[in-house]
Amino acid sequence: MCFCGRDYERNTRPVDLGGGFAEGTRPYYVKNLLKIMFKKSVLITGGAGFIGSHVVRLFVNKYPDYQIVNLDALTYAGNLENVKDVEKQPNYVFEKGDIRVADFLKNLFEKYNFDAVIHLAAESHVDRSIENPLAFVETNVIGTVNLLNAAKNLWKNDWRDKLFYHISTDEVYGSLGKTGLFTENTAYDPHSPYSASKAASDHFVRSYHDTYGLPSVISNCSNNYGPNQFPEKLIPLFINNIKLQKPLPVYGDGQYTRDWLFVIDHARAIDMIFHQGKTGETYNIGGFNEYTNIDLIHLLCDIMDEKLGRPKGSSRNLITFVKDRPGHDKRYAIDATKINKELGWKPSVNFEEGLSKTIDWYLENEEWLKNVTSGEYQKYYDEMYGGR
Ligand code: NAD
Ligand code: TYD
Repeated sequence: MCFCGRDYERNTRPVDLGGGFAEGTRPYYVKNLLKIMFKKSVLITGGAGFIGSHVVRLFVNKYPDYQIVNLDALTYAGNLENVKDVEKQPNYVFEKGDIRVADFLKNLFEKYNFDAVIHLAAESHVDRSIENPLAFVETNVIGTVNLLNAAKNLWKNDWRDKLFYHISTDEVYGSLGKTGLFTENTAYDPHSPYSASKAASDHFVRSYHDTYGLPSVISNCSNNYGPNQFPEKLIPLFINNIKLQKPLPVYGDGQYTRDWLFVIDHARAIDMIFHQGKTGETYNIGGFNEYTNIDLIHLLCDIMDEKLGRPKGSSRNLITFVKDRPGHDKRYAIDATKINKELGWKPSVNFEEGLSKTIDWYLENEEWLKNVTSGEYQKYYDEMYGGR
């Protein structure tokens, strides 16, 4: 009898477990059995999304003695294709559900008796937050508080070996001038509804640590890129547009600066912080890799011209300067000294290599791209770029 992986759901239905015990005692039995089978039960939220799927893959494969429960609402950004390669692993379970629903979370925490949470589920796109801020409050703020409550209620009598790990963004720190870096002590100064909602969620996580003693840790990372990113963010959107020879909509003058990190390196950092980070602490994660948007776009165009066998410079002709994003942050740059010094983390993939791998992935995964860009995506694309 297996109580693990995808069979879990099937096996929690009333079945004869050989002991002939009463129906009401079964969940207790299942919980204890899971405790024997797995060293830890870890909830990963947002594991069907871009970064979450890479974290799920890393944890499922690297830690066969952890039970990994992937909770995702499968919004437009969530896609089970992203984790298809691990779905049959015995230590993996998928649960479809919404972090905005407190009762659902209460039952889920009771069902799996989690030891730890790695919380990535979020509304994550700045442009969408400008169109619909409330959705960001509901998922990023209320959803996070619901999760904190579920963890607090389950763990309140014994915090030992428990951890609530909240994944956040460098955007909470606001915008830098030409010089300077965000450190863990930089004051929060969010400008978009997205960054404001992430800042609020960070504050709630710290408040649960300080008020109730909930063991928590937060990391704030710079812009990620890599396979499986939904093509609304700069890099995958532009890869797709270059491929289709569609205009490349550059906001404003293109002189905005971001620090880019390959998603696999972010997942590695999350693994290190999860295992070695100190509770109550914050860790900044960055790529030591600043690019202005226009320089990055030129590089992307040139690599793609070469890969697609097009004349050098031809994709640059697709660049179209469009109306700027309101409240557009000028520059983000992370000082990742703390995680480097204390945990020994540093990026392993340089930008040109990561970009080349990312482009190859999108060119090789046409079906994935076709699936995620059908239907609603077309409407979003027309609304976002039609009038700019
Ligand atoms: P994403 O949009 O690709 O994925 C988010 C996932 O959360 C999706 O699978 C979606 O279905 C799920 N989700 C959304 N609302 C939900 C809800 N109410 N209940 C349950 N699941 C829900 O996002 P991402 O880029 O992978 O970002 C993941 C996390 O990392 C976010 O918290 C984001 O703020 C943070 N982050 C992202 C970046 C980046 O560059 N993408 C950088 C730093 C931090
Ligand atoms: P994005 O990928 O949305 O990430 P974030 O806003 O979280 O940094 O955007 C990265 C940069 O690219 C940002 O300065 C906005 C800019 N941008 C464009 O110029 N055109 C686009 O179509 C998009 C989506 C972004």
